Order: sequence, then structure tokens, then C-alpha cells
Amino acid sequence: MDKILVHGGPRLSGSVRISGSKNSALPILAATLLTREQCVIHHVPDLSDVHYMLQILTHLGAEVERASGTVTVQAGKITTNAPYDIVRKMRASVCVLGPLLSRAKEATVSLPGGCVIGDRPIDLHLKGFESLGASYRVEAGNVKVFASRLNGAVCNLRGKFGSTVLGTDNVMMAAVLAEGTTVIEGAAAEPEVVDLANFLNAMGAKVEGAGTRRIIVEGVAELHGAEHAVIPDRIEAGTFLVAAAISGDQVTLQRVAPSHLQSVIDALRKAGFLIHTTETSLTLHGNGASKSLELATEPYPGFPTDMQAQMCALFSRTDGISVITENVFPQRFMHVSELKRMGAAIQLEGATAVIQGVERLSGAPVMASDLRASAALVLAGLQADGVTEVNRVYHIDRGYEQIDEKLNALGAQIERVKA
Ligand code: EPZ
Repeated sequence: MDKILVHGGPRLSGSVRISGSKNSALPILAATLLTREQCVIHHVPDLSDVHYMLQILTHLGAEVERASGTVTVQAGKITTNAPYDIVRKMRASVCVLGPLLSRAKEATVSLPGGCVIGDRPIDLHLKGFESLGASYRVEAGNVKVFASRLNGAVCNLRGKFGSTVLGTDNVMMAAVLAEGTTVIEGAAAEPEVVDLANFLNAMGAKVEGAGTRRIIVEGVAELHGAEHAVIPDRIEAGTFLVAAAISGDQVTLQRVAPSHLQSVIDALRKAGFLIHTTETSLTLHGNGASKSLELATEPYPGFPTDMQAQMCALFSRTDGISVITENVFPQRFMHVSELKRMGAAIQLEGATAVIQGVERLSGAPVMASDLRASAALVLAGLQADGVTEVNRVYHIDRGYEQIDEKLNALGAQIERVKA
């Protein structure tokens, strides 16, 4: 397994181009199953999670071609059983359920197990499918969803941790070919949900209200092929903003949508950083002096759970006491024990991390766990004395396109060691 060595200390400056959104590309690629016509998707990032999704589409019978950032898919004839050995590697595979249910009135996907950020149930997805007239059964670790027909209905997808992103995506995709109108209350409002709705409408669907808690889908007879460009990755952008806050002089992010990460910009401004925005770029002026903050993660437009670990890395060396409460995935603190091995002073109290800023962090061999925790360890390494060795770097490659090369282009000193 590859590892990366992060040399602490260099200042970052310059500009970096942000890739297309992983969490938008994955459901949009799944949505190409809704038509037998050809779809062309641009700005698809080169990530292992995307590779897994393309493998699943191919296994299901679609013709898939990739030419740098553009993916062409034609799902002429399809089967309906997603392969366990790929699905188990990526929870997001669950978002093929909705399109397969729409297209073929049945779908079988292995149940996504838990993962390091906590339990990953799909009860709200299944509740939405049942509202549309589908049934499901769980057997041998798989969930099979099936329906003789799908009828528009009103459903509420709000769970005890708030809205569900992939649940909203799945039910939206199950509703686009249903008979009649579907109302999804308690919908997720993430920009990636809006991007999927825009792609579905480009295919001839009738989806309104995406980006609000109430999405209305009027079923149509069939969908046609479409061409679409995926939105920029707001979490990659946020991650690079924190890298600039930690060790940057002046860093500019190109091809971003500042409005998609407003809560992150607001938090970093409150921490004392100067951030300049244009329509498609963000510039952070690092001045070294971060102020401690109290933050809580919430569904969009609140502060994103996918940025929680990165903020823990920033606050590890911020004077004073910062507090971060994780309201979406309460167990998502795998990074804390690794940051403490680097000298961070963090106390966990339930779903809250209390971070006492320290003068110095020291480089150490650390273990990557989930995608964002791994990025946080790289960020901590940028500001640590000595070298931080991040093992199991495949976790990072799942969601960040060449993060080491992009950071090195800004002045970081990161080496990738092939195992
Ligand atoms: C999406 O996961 C993202 N993944 C996650 O990003 C992100 O952290 C998450 O949304 C929250 O923003 C993709 O888009 C591929 P949820 P998703 O359903 O849809 C509970 C990353 O790092 N829940 O919004 O799977 C769930 O346990 C990844 O890029 C139920 O209880 O997350 C969690 O506590 C990690 N029942 C909360 O809701 C359900 O049926 C939010 O989960 C579904 C979810």
C-alpha cells in the first residue's frame, strides 16, 4: 500500500484548480442507467470511487468510455444485480438502487456495511421506495427492491440525524418515471442534489425544488440521453482553504463555486482569515493567526461534516480552546487519535471534540482511516516539525485527485512512496 511523507514547514502560495465533485459525479453516473440513450458527463474526477462506479455500470451491462475528465455511458440493456465485491468497497454504490428500480422495477445491491465514520443505514432510502409502491427484502447481506409499478406519493426523508443526501438522490431517481407526482419532504439540499436534479431535468425529467427541503417530481414516460458538466468539489475546495489557512501566504482556488461552501468561508473568516471571492475563485490570505472557534456540523447549508476533520487539524495549533460538535456522523472522529499522536491536545466528549491549541505538532507515522480524516492528517503534517508518514493513502485517493501533486505545486514537500 502506498504511503505519503509530508515534510512540515513550507509556506504555500500560488493557485490550484479544483476538480469536479466526487459526491456529484457518483449519483449522476448512476442516473445514466435511467435511459438507454447515450449520456456524456464532463469534469468527472479521476478517483478510485469513480472507478468503482464505472465498474458497477459496466457490470450492469452499460457501455462505458472515459477520455480524461469526460465519461460516456450508454445503458442500452441492463441487468439489475450490483456485484458485491465492488459494492462493498464503496457505500455510494447504493445510489444505483433508485435508477434500477425506475428502469427495471427491481434492483439488488449488497447492504452497505458500517464504515469508520459510523453506521451507514439505508432505512430512509427504503422508506422512500415503499412510499412509491416498492417492496424490499434483505437476504444474504443484500437488499432486493422490487415493484410491479411505481406511483407518485408524498414521503418524508428526514431522519434522526437530519436529511439524507443519497437517500434524497435515490428517491428522486425512483420517482422520475413513476405514475403521477411525488413530493419529497425533509429533502437534502446539498449542491450535489441540485446538480443531480439538473442532470435529470436535462434528460427530460420534471424535478422542481431541488436545493430546498421540498422536492416535487412529476413522473414522465421515459428519459433521453443528455450531456452535463459536474459542479466543482466544494469539499476539496474547503480542504485546500484549510491547507492555506494552516501554512499559506496567499493561495487561490480556481474553478470553484464559492456559494457552495459559504459556511466554510464564514467559519474561516470568523477565525481571522481574509478570503476574497469571485464568481469562480477563492483566495485566502494566510496570516498564521487563527482564532479558536465553536463549530457544529449540520446538513447543508450548515457546516459540512466532510470538513470537520480538516478543522480539527487547523485548530490543533490555534491558540485557545476550540469546540467542534459532530451532529451528522457522531462517531466521525477517527482522526483524533492520530492527531494526538502528533501532539495535539484533543478531548472527545460524546460527539464533541474539545481542542486545546498547542505550540507545536511533531511529525509521526499515522494511519489514514476515512477519506476526510486522511486529508486532515496531511494538513496536520504541513504544520508539524519533521516528517509525517501517512499510511493507507488509498483512503485519500478515493476522494482527492492528486492531492500530493496539487499541494506540491503550491510549495508543499510531499513524497509518495510506492509500496
Ligand atoms: C453523503 O453520504 C456523502 N457521500 C458523504 O460524504 C457525506 O458525509 C454525507 O452525505 C453527509 O453530507 C456521497 O455523497 C457519496 P447521509 P450519505 O445519508 O448520503 C443517517 C465523503 O467523505 N442516515 O446524508 O450516505 C446517516 O447514518 C462522504 O465524501 C440514516 O439514518 O449520508 C447519517 O448519520 C462521507 N438512514 C446521516 O443520516 C438513512 O437511510 C446523514 O447521512 C440514510 C442516512
